[in-house]
Amino acid sequence: MKQHDERPSRRTTRTTILLLHARGLAASVPLLALSLGCAAQEAETEQEPTFWQDVAPITASKCTACHQEGGLAPFRLDDYISAKARAGAIDDAVRGGHMPPFLVKHDGSCGDFKDDETLTAEELDVIHRWATGARAEGDRAGAPPTPPVPTLEGGVDYMTPPITPVVDPADPLAAHDEWRCFPVDPGLDADRFITGYQVTPGVRSIVHHVTVYRVTPSEASLAEGKTNQDVMTELDDASPDRPGWECFGGPADELPFQPLFAWAPGQDVVEFPGGTGAPVSAKDVFVVQVHYNIHDDHAGASAEDSTRLRLRYEDTVERRAVFVGDDGFMTTLFEPDGPDTLPPGQQDAAYTWRRTRAELALDPALPSIEVLGVMPHMHERGRTFDLRVGSGTQESCIARVDDWDVHWQGVYWYRMRPLLDPSSSLEVTCTFDTRDAEAPVLPGWGTQNEMCNLNLLVALPMTQ
Ligand code: HEC
Repeated sequence: MKQHDERPSRRTTRTTILLLHARGLAASVPLLALSLGCAAQEAETEQEPTFWQDVAPITASKCTACHQEGGLAPFRLDDYISAKARAGAIDDAVRGGHMPPFLVKHDGSCGDFKDDETLTAEELDVIHRWATGARAEGDRAGAPPTPPVPTLEGGVDYMTPPITPVVDPADPLAAHDEWRCFPVDPGLDADRFITGYQVTPGVRSIVHHVTVYRVTPSEASLAEGKTNQDVMTELDDASPDRPGWECFGGPADELPFQPLFAWAPGQDVVEFPGGTGAPVSAKDVFVVQVHYNIHDDHAGASAEDSTRLRLRYEDTVERRAVFVGDDGFMTTLFEPDGPDTLPPGQQDAAYTWRRTRAELALDPALPSIEVLGVMPHMHERGRTFDLRVGSGTQESCIARVDDWDVHWQGVYWYRMRPLLDPSSSLEVTCTFDTRDAEAPVLPGWGTQNEMCNLNLLVALPMTQ
């Protein structure tokens, strides 16, 4: 941003000096620069934009953190030849709002979010004129440097054990998928708070999500007479030739359900907003759940993954960041007359579910709970996602995705944080494109099944 804001003045000054030189008036620069300011600006608007002077300041602030050698994106935009070859695609991507990626609506009509790097009208115009014009290179000198690839400062690294996913094609709920849980010892010597995370899959094309749960091994499990450690040891020992255990849903039925955070493709460095963090006790271990999907990637069927978690801890925070997840479509799998299904052959098959604040297991004694962020989640047939909060007679939209894309499942942090009071209820509506399905689409863990999954990060007081 800063680099871009500075650019016009630098440019205008240079153009002015050039004009003055041309007129042989260099000696009177300071005085005449003022009076010629207007003429110089006119000259600038008429001029063809160049890559280094006009486009690079925009891409350096909004694109090249990803689009560089070693970055998240598949090609560079900090290089003239590479950018020029894709000029048309760049123009389409920014004008269509696909790049920079920001899936939730951010025009003020539904929720007010941080970190929105959408291009301004002026920036869109510069890129359009460059891409549809001569695509001139300009002079590299003075162009802004490429920003560093994002990395979580002060993080501690953990790796999941190397594993090649194995699937059961006969499983109607996960025919191409393996959900595997691995215990990971954080090695903490004191209670801490996670204030940021960065997940780097070993094989990006097969890792569809990572959820990190905390479990206290020494505590009693939900299975009678067994500690959590007993349960984890039994689960792990059941498949001695492979690390970890199969775990759809949470870490295991007999273990407590205490998610700390969830990663999905499109997230890179995630930092909890000021003063909040997810609590971990010195006695805890992590159970890291990795969802492998080998449907879209045939090479992935034999690929060995080991995923890196980088976590940043702090000793104290002001409030706890607590992960609240629910999916009213998935839960029908466990209902006696369930499950609900989506009709096949529809462009917009809608599913709506509701929960009161109390049903989300949020303490009814708290007068108001701040929502820090939201992470919508659906699978490949997802089209739109809509989250509304009702309180008394008021209803407001707090997150909406108009054009779902499984590759971009960010955590979107609020700038204006919605509040949930004890009477609040949440309503989630997902729509799905089921035109390619021959049979009703089941909810399920497999990427070919569907979810209408809401994940919220809320701030809770330290004492709760
Ligand atoms: C957060 C990382 C990130 C940022 C920021 C980002 N991109 Fe991308 N971009 C990607 C990735 C990853 C892909 C490939 C996957 C995809 O298309 O979703 C991509 C794909 C593209 C494509 C291919 C066509 C398309 O629409 O998918 C274009 C063009 C593009 N980006 C341009 C840009 C421009 C221009 C900017 C800045 C205004 C930008 N990107 C910002 C990560 C990023």
